[in-house]
Amino acid sequence: MKFSDSFLDEIRTRLPVSQVVSRRVQLKKAGREWKGLSPFNKEKTPSFTVNDQKGFYHCFSSGKHGDIFTFLMEMEGLSFPEAVERLAGDAGVSMPAPDPRYERTMKERLGLMDAVEAAAKLFEQAIRAKGGREALGYAEGRGISRDTIAEFRMGYAPGGRDSLKSALLKQGFTEAQLLEAGLVIKPDDGRPTYDRFRNRLVIPILNAKSRVIAFGARALASDAQPKYLNSPETKLFDKGSMVFNFTRARQSAFEKGELIVVEGYMDVIALHQAGFKNAVATLGTAFTERQMEVLWLLAPEPVICFDGDRAGEAAAARAVDRMLPALREGRSFRFAFLPEGQDPDDLVRGAGPAAFAGHLKSAHPLIDMVWTRETSAAPLDTPERRAAFEARLETLLGEIGNTRVRDHYRREIKNRLFELWRPQAPRARQTGGKEVRKPARREAVPPPTPCGFATIVILALVNHPRLFDRFAEDVASFDVRDKKLAGLLDAVTRAISETPSITRETLIAELRDGPHAKPIERLFWDSPFKRLAFLQPETPQAEVEAQFADVIYRWRALPTLNREIEESADQLTEMSEAEFERFVTLQQEVASVGLRHEGDDAGERDANQRFQEMLARLRKEPPSRGRRSEKRQ
Ligand code: UTP
Ligand code: MN
Repeated sequence: MKFSDSFLDEIRTRLPVSQVVSRRVQLKKAGREWKGLSPFNKEKTPSFTVNDQKGFYHCFSSGKHGDIFTFLMEMEGLSFPEAVERLAGDAGVSMPAPDPRYERTMKERLGLMDAVEAAAKLFEQAIRAKGGREALGYAEGRGISRDTIAEFRMGYAPGGRDSLKSALLKQGFTEAQLLEAGLVIKPDDGRPTYDRFRNRLVIPILNAKSRVIAFGARALASDAQPKYLNSPETKLFDKGSMVFNFTRARQSAFEKGELIVVEGYMDVIALHQAGFKNAVATLGTAFTERQMEVLWLLAPEPVICFDGDRAGEAAAARAVDRMLPALREGRSFRFAFLPEGQDPDDLVRGAGPAAFAGHLKSAHPLIDMVWTRETSAAPLDTPERRAAFEARLETLLGEIGNTRVRDHYRREIKNRLFELWRPQAPRARQTGGKEVRKPARREAVPPPTPCGFATIVILALVNHPRLFDRFAEDVASFDVRDKKLAGLLDAVTRAISETPSITRETLIAELRDGPHAKPIERLFWDSPFKRLAFLQPETPQAEVEAQFADVIYRWRALPTLNREIEESADQLTEMSEAEFERFVTLQQEVASVGLRHEGDDAGERDANQRFQEMLARLRKEPPSRGRRSEKRQ
């Protein structure tokens, strides 16, 4: 309904903003204004001001600004008419008389609502009566407590052909009303109307004012068809905008800033009982635009739960297409995939609430869904296929209606393409980075130098930030002499320790944004080590760890080996055979560690030169070799 300006002003004059706000925020007088701590952000110095003369509040920390109505909408998640109604009551202003046409439809709707409410009451009574024993047993068998049954107002629809109909007719409702409310069905063959819900466990569906407007009803027998029977679309029940459990979830979602979206009634109910009160269900319908808007009323990035099987993946893929056009600044969805074949109800009752919470925590952002879906759709092993893939992405991003969001998607995708096409990931290119690699074949790479080691360690940490959990101390103990690499390694380890759950993508993005942009890009593009299998993001963690441990070991060993070589070289001419053998082994060891490779470290160049000299001396002075060959003959 539309409110006149004079009516709204009347409420505004009677209710100073400070009075409405002070129920939530402690205010102190500051000159003509009031000051307090922002209710929108956590803060220590007050940046929230209220000006009664001007009739508004302003929050400097969040930039939020508004009047008494928006304050209630922001703080309690009320709609505008709800806020008006509430504040009109507080102000003692009576609501304006509705126009007659509006009133007529209201009456009609109330009539229907009364009928549905009366039905809900009868169902609730029935589940507690003798006839409802089976339904009650069914609910309890699924772990639903009496309290939950009462809270959700669950009930039982008796098995007779028209028990509900006759009870409601006795209460004075007309058959036409029952038909319009979707409670009875009129058969085509002209026989009398009969109850829509028979012998089922009934779950009421509430509107935003907590009034019952429809029902979902589950069959008690496992083989009964259909499993769920729902009210039809009626004047009260608009399926396209409906989400189940909206009102109960509202407060909790608001407080947590998070909303869980599941598919079924029972999922919501089980979650509620397990302490996740911020759950709603879409009841198996597609994601309509209006549904998304309703979900966004409750949280900016609702987490949608999907079954981890193929069907769940397909459902998520369909959801992505519906979401892109609707996205806007700050509004998106996240995707949680549950173990195959398990819905949230199974999960909280089986693995437990903590397991479910874990899945919520690891939910994927929408951008990842788009990326994974498109990269894995077809092979990317030829230039033409890669071009087609880019064109597909471009078309898809064109679906995003909001220009600002679209621009940011384009940027992000550009970054990811940069990553995907970079030369070190030939396999990732073919498989779209999805398939796990087979254990590494050792690729031909130059043996590492000390700088090489630092490079490898940095590349490994960036590609697998989790390595830091196990190797933090080792990494910290190394002295990287090259300043640029030292700075980069420092930035990498700092970023990982600040955000232990950081993903490789975020880490790279952060580094490319900061002062280390150049060095990190050089590492990725130019480093001869980038082809090492274990540096690839898709190499399994266990293999990565094993190889990384080996690198660390060698890095440690390098100075010792250098020293040993030098010491033995001094005694080269007087070497016994055993010593010579040892020297050869040492030589091989050092070679494998990488001494021979040219590096830019001065100390290492010296060692390298010494080594060359040693070899030369060895060639000039055959005795040691001679001795050796004699023995062999
Ligand atoms: P599911 O088939 O996944 O069932 O339907 P569920 O929620 O796990 O049900 P239980 O645990 O076996 O009781 C998900 C949702 O799809 C709608 C319902 O809203 C259901 O909660 N649905 C399903 C129907 O409307 N009709 C059906 O026949 C089946
Ligand atoms: Mn289920």
